[in-house]
Amino acid sequence: MRNPYLPMPVTIAEVTVENDARDIKTFKLVFDKDEDRAEFDYLPGQFAELSLFGSGESPIGIASSPTEQGHLLFSVKRMGVLTGELHASAPGRKIGVRGPLGHPFPWERLQGKDLLIVSGGFAFTTLRSAITYMIDPANRSRFGKITAVYGAREPGELLYKQALRQWETSRDIEFTATIDRPKDGWNGRVGLVPNVVKEIGPSADNAIALVCGPPIMIKFTIPVLVELGFAKEDIVVSLENRMKCGIGKCGRCNVGAKYVCLDGPVFTWAELEKLPAEY
Ligand SMILES: Cc1cc2nc3c(=O)[nH]c(=O)nc-3n(C[C@H](O)[C@H](O)[C@H](O)COP(=O)(O)OP(=O)(O)OC[C@H]3O[C@@H](n4cnc5c(N)ncnc54)[C@H](O)[C@@H]3O)c2cc1C
Ligand code: FES
Repeated sequence: MRNPYLPMPVTIAEVTVENDARDIKTFKLVFDKDEDRAEFDYLPGQFAELSLFGSGESPIGIASSPTEQGHLLFSVKRMGVLTGELHASAPGRKIGVRGPLGHPFPWERLQGKDLLIVSGGFAFTTLRSAITYMIDPANRSRFGKITAVYGAREPGELLYKQALRQWETSRDIEFTATIDRPKDGWNGRVGLVPNVVKEIGPSADNAIALVCGPPIMIKFTIPVLVELGFAKEDIVVSLENRMKCGIGKCGRCNVGAKYVCLDGPVFTWAELEKLPAEY
């Protein structure tokens, strides 16, 4: 059995600056060993620990989809020691990846359902993975109608701009990008994510909502979803609690009796309501 603490060696193949503030970059990583690439079998919603010698490890959501073969994508905001060092790294640098970790979105339950995707800020990363996965021609027929609302403070803070343009005109997904306040040059939607979800008013019949975003967005989105008729079991939320080991050993990420790294990071709202509000 593989040592779960042992990172797989990968090489940074490409770095993309995602936002005007230049503090979010997407790293395209390729495995150095074929056997590691084969072993890293993941589904959207999972995360991995990225490691750099001398800087430690950080949990980061996997932004690529398993349908995008041959590489992994991670979109990382510059926060401190590890993410700062990663931001200073150029293509060619070797780093470590440990994972995949945590539970993915509940893909078996999502099959045959309409999906509502709600996201704000840079938490959109694992939902980029989910959308790419669902609208891939090999998977699209497994899901009903897909509606997505993704918001940022301003246009320059929206991630994956090229993909957003494609999704906005795609027949596979009803995609809306929104910004918080009007801005010169922006002709798209303006409004906070929960308000836009309410205006669009997707049907909750045979539907499941996936929600990733800052706690304040989640707080105001849940009542809107409940008002639209979504059962609390049909609202799926991804958490980003502090973590260390990522494999249920260190006790750094627990919320009540649950380890977010092991039992999550994906929970239903019905499950979260039963836990102490430490997330
Ligand atoms: C499951 C999961 C998925 C994540 N996915 C992503 C992702 O896709 N992209 C991304 O950019 N980040 C993601 N994060 C957050 C990321 O792990 C932290 O920002 C990172 O570990 C900070 O490391 P650092 O060494 O650069 O910062 P440090 O030097 O350790 O800390 C710098 C600052 O960041 C704060 N900080 C550290 N960890 C967290 C955290 N988990 N949440 C909030 N603040 C924190 C510290 O309090 C401090 O103020 C995720 C976290 C989890 C648990
Ligand atoms: S991060 Fe160590 S137990 Fe969850």
